[in-house]
Order: sequence, then structure tokens, then C-alpha cells
Amino acid sequence: MQLYDNPASPFCRKVQVVLRETGQFDEVETVFAIGHPLATEQMPVAQNPLGKIPCLTRDDGPAIYDSRVICRFLDARANTGLYPQARLWEILTLEATADGIMDAAVLMVYEGRSRPEGIRYAAWVDAQWDKVARALDAVGSRWMGHLAGPLNMGQIAVACALGYLDFRHGDRDWRKGRDGLAAWYETFSTRKTMAETTPKA
Ligand code: BEZ
Repeated sequence: MQLYDNPASPFCRKVQVVLRETGQFDEVETVFAIGHPLATEQMPVAQNPLGKIPCLTRDDGPAIYDSRVICRFLDARANTGLYPQARLWEILTLEATADGIMDAAVLMVYEGRSRPEGIRYAAWVDAQWDKVARALDAVGSRWMGHLAGPLNMGQIAVACALGYLDFRHGDRDWRKGRDGLAAWYETFSTRKTMAETTPKA
């Protein structure tokens, strides 16, 4: 299998963590890619018409995407129970919440990186951060129970989202007023699989 991947992407990091946590890392070749729509030559458009990453090619079927599909596929393939049946909808919703944090945080980066100065929209960037802040507050108040206990996909996704906030938005200080979530992340990020996948520019 080949994974189209970028070491800065929190979505790709989810897959990299799952590959390691489920013992499938050696079965996948990582191919550097850029999922940005203005970088067409490095987008895996032949594999994913959207050109987005992560995208996983398989020997026994068509390429699959996005990160949620790939992570669920890898978990099913290794039978590792990252989506416990008794709490399936909660874990999927927690993963979707973390992915929404990533979406908003990445859009903020793209606004600064892709849009020429002068037509950047600060209010839009702040509104993306408001989305991040609301989602973090929801995780801290409603979802901490799911962050405890055996490893699940919600935990991995939230940790990758928080890691990306540190990586690209450290100045916004997401930990402020969120002691419980910060303490959880401090512990979770000591996992070997998290240390091995620290985002890189
Ligand atoms: C980044 O550089 O922040 C980035 C790169 C790829 C995907 C998402 C984010």
C-alpha cells in the first residue's frame, strides 16, 4: 500500500498514528504529497479526484480517502477495536469534532499562505478560531470521558488536532482555561506513536 502524505498535515498524522498503533506501519510506503489545490503537480489526483491527502492506495481495491475512511479501514483490517461498537456514534462524532478543529485551523493557515496580502480577511480567520475554541470547549466539557480509558479513534484525532494547534497556532494558547484537556494531552502526547509523528514543516 502507498500513503500519500504530508508531514505537516494533522489529517495525515491521524493515519500515521493509526498505522503505528495497529502494527501496520511496515506495510505502507509513505509518498510525499501536497493536497493544496494550488499545488496540482504534487496532488495525488490520479488516485483521488479531489487531490486531497491522506489518500491510501491498496493492492486489492481502489484508493481510499479521506482520513476517516482510511483510519476505519486500517482498524478493521487489523481488528484493533479503535471504534468500540458500544460507543460507535460517540467516537465517530468525537473524531468529526477533532477533524472540524483541524479543518478550521488549516483554513486559517491557508488564508495567510495562499491569499495575497491586502485581500486577506481577518474577520474570517477569527471566525475560524471561534469555531476551534467552541469545539475545544465542547471536548473539555462533554467528551473527557471518551478521552479516558482504552485507546480509541476519538483520542487519536483529538490529540492530532491539538498537536496541529501547537504547531501552527501556538500564539493562540488553546490551553488557557482548558486545564483538563491540556493535562490529558500532556499525557497522551508521550505515546511513542505521537512522538514519532510530530508535525514537520
Ligand atoms: C500545513 O503546512 O500546515 C499543512 C500542510 C498540509 C496539509 C495541512 C496543513
